[in-house]
Amino acid sequence: MTQIKKIGLYTSGGDAPGMNAAIRAVVRTALFYDIEVVGILRGYHGMIRGEFMPMGRKSVSNIVQRGGTILKTARSDQFKTPEGRKKAYDQLKSQDIDALVAIGGDGTFTGALAFGSEFDMPIVGLPGTIDNDLAGTDFTIGYDTAINTVVNAVDKIRDTAESHNRLFIVEVMGRDSGLIALRTGIAAGAEAILIPENKDGMAHLFDRLENGRKDKTSRIVIAAEGDDAGGAFEIGRIVTERFPHYDTRVSILGHIQRGGKPTCMDRVLASRVGVAAVEALRDGHRNEMIGVIHNEISYTPFGSALKRSTEINANFLKIVEILSL
Ligand code: F6P
Repeated sequence: MTQIKKIGLYTSGGDAPGMNAAIRAVVRTALFYDIEVVGILRGYHGMIRGEFMPMGRKSVSNIVQRGGTILKTARSDQFKTPEGRKKAYDQLKSQDIDALVAIGGDGTFTGALAFGSEFDMPIVGLPGTIDNDLAGTDFTIGYDTAINTVVNAVDKIRDTAESHNRLFIVEVMGRDSGLIALRTGIAAGAEAILIPENKDGMAHLFDRLENGRKDKTSRIVIAAEGDDAGGAFEIGRIVTERFPHYDTRVSILGHIQRGGKPTCMDRVLASRVGVAAVEALRDGHRNEMIGVIHNEISYTPFGSALKRSTEINANFLKIVEILSL
């Protein structure tokens, strides 16, 4: 058992619904084990500047259901430098912080990996990103909420597409990952999906529009923002030029995908990994991301969590094809 007295807790990178549930779980578990928690505001940016706030049982009351992050978040260029990380370490030491819990995605863990190799301070991470683009966990905190937000939005787009007999290109987030597009495409009954992991997406879409059933009353194409085709407006332009008889519109869902109340799945995931993070630190884990694989808590070194494969489950693409006949 490692003797930890004070944990520093922060969220970093893009926010994700369920981060607050994770914060609550970490704070309450730490208190359960008589460990103090200091909240670090605005991620690495606030760590360097010494933006700290003590956290108690009440500071995390009534947040399990709230989107965003009460600790705020930011992306920090300064932390990418050794000097920035040294400043952050000195700030943490001035508060007697002896371990860290980081909640975020790949930028957060890239920073944690560098920091953990330079300084003797245990860090564990919780996967918090809507993109679901980390290895070492089946799902990330925020992904389930985001895909439900997308599906709700696309259902609304479907209503108007149906009324006007239109084709809609809907762009969803995911940075360089197509995992939001892949699942939401199936759930929203998409005609086709365009994702960076599949290079045949545009050819497939053209084929569908040329040779597919002609009596459809609406069509939805889900395009991941990272797809090579150049973004929804460019795809809309190409489709309009090639298929002028389709009445085509474009919709970019944007940051609504990052907001809103976390779903039950995200709250439970966040609570499970939040409890496990504090217990992992007590058990001597460091430089690892805590995830859930096949319903069991898993521990993955930061370096491996960052190396997600860009291969996707080909069955998912086939499902879109079969079901959009
Ligand atoms: O990583 C989460 C995410 O929402 C990505 O899907 C998206 O590409 C990016 O963050 C947008 O970042 P920002 O809010 O800084 O524009």
